[in-house]
Amino acid sequence: MFSLKGKVALITGAATGLGQAIAVALGQRGADIAISDKQLDRLFETESLLVPLGSKIHKLAMDVRDPEQVKAGVASTEQFLGRVDILVNNAGINRPSPGLEVSLENWEDHFNTNVRGGFFAAQAVAPGMIRRNWGRIIFISSQSGVVGIPAQPVYCATKGAIIQLVRTLGLEWAKHGVTVNSIAPTFVETNLTRARLQNPEFRKFVETKIPCGHLARPEHIAAAAVYLASEEAAMVNCETHLVDGGWTAW
Ligand SMILES: NC(=O)c1ccc[n+]([C@@H]2O[C@H](COP(=O)([O-])OP(=O)(O)OC[C@H]3O[C@@H](n4cnc5c(N)ncnc54)[C@H](O)[C@@H]3O)[C@@H](O)[C@H]2O)c1
Repeated sequence: MFSLKGKVALITGAATGLGQAIAVALGQRGADIAISDKQLDRLFETESLLVPLGSKIHKLAMDVRDPEQVKAGVASTEQFLGRVDILVNNAGINRPSPGLEVSLENWEDHFNTNVRGGFFAAQAVAPGMIRRNWGRIIFISSQSGVVGIPAQPVYCATKGAIIQLVRTLGLEWAKHGVTVNSIAPTFVETNLTRARLQNPEFRKFVETKIPCGHLARPEHIAAAAVYLASEEAAMVNCETHLVDGGWTAW
């Protein structure tokens, strides 16, 4: 079960954190991997983790805020690796700002990266998936798309938007063998969260809210991505899979 041999996966924001862990996990299941991030030189570490796995690797600069770069990145993956069977829309930012202080720039940066970027990547890979009658599109949303987090109104709004996007795109493309889902993690210590988690008060708030009392690790999120990417998950569609240790249950 869960073999991805013969599949090609494209992961955005794959230089660090969850994107890196997901790229490695998909490679471990046998997929060929296209890793992308804003800058090419940030991808060497992920590449070095993939090389021993024997996956074919394509490395590309793709700033998801720019729809032209997204289109070109998908085209270059299709050219070098033959196609895109699995897209993981992972690239994301979180720059907390209380509602009264949110600037237009902060709003646009969040929506252009977290929502628009993933949407146009999905739109670019979908025609090939529909033609081949097989595809898996996985967005990384967040538990913050389901519950509010103080001082993060814009981030939470982008993650809620992703949850609605996967419901709708999944409905549109289901009859062509394409599923569209999202993974909604709780807190994982990465570059995105490290500074906030170093504040003992904030860390305590987080650990208290997670019923098992500890953060998630990148491998927990990567395992969910392997499942959603697999043949076995063919009947899972339009779904947001919480990996939150129970945070949102209370
Ligand atoms: N870490 C957590 O606690 C957590 C929880 C829930 C959801 N998430 C989501 O998981 C995803 C990955 O987060 P992470 O914690 O690994 O963060 P991270 O900051 O460690 O990694 C994010 C990656 O995305 C890249 N990126 C940012 N903007 C980009 C752009 N415009 N174009 C291309 N790449 C871009 C960054 O360069 C970086 O490599 C994000 O969507 C985030 O919102 C993270």
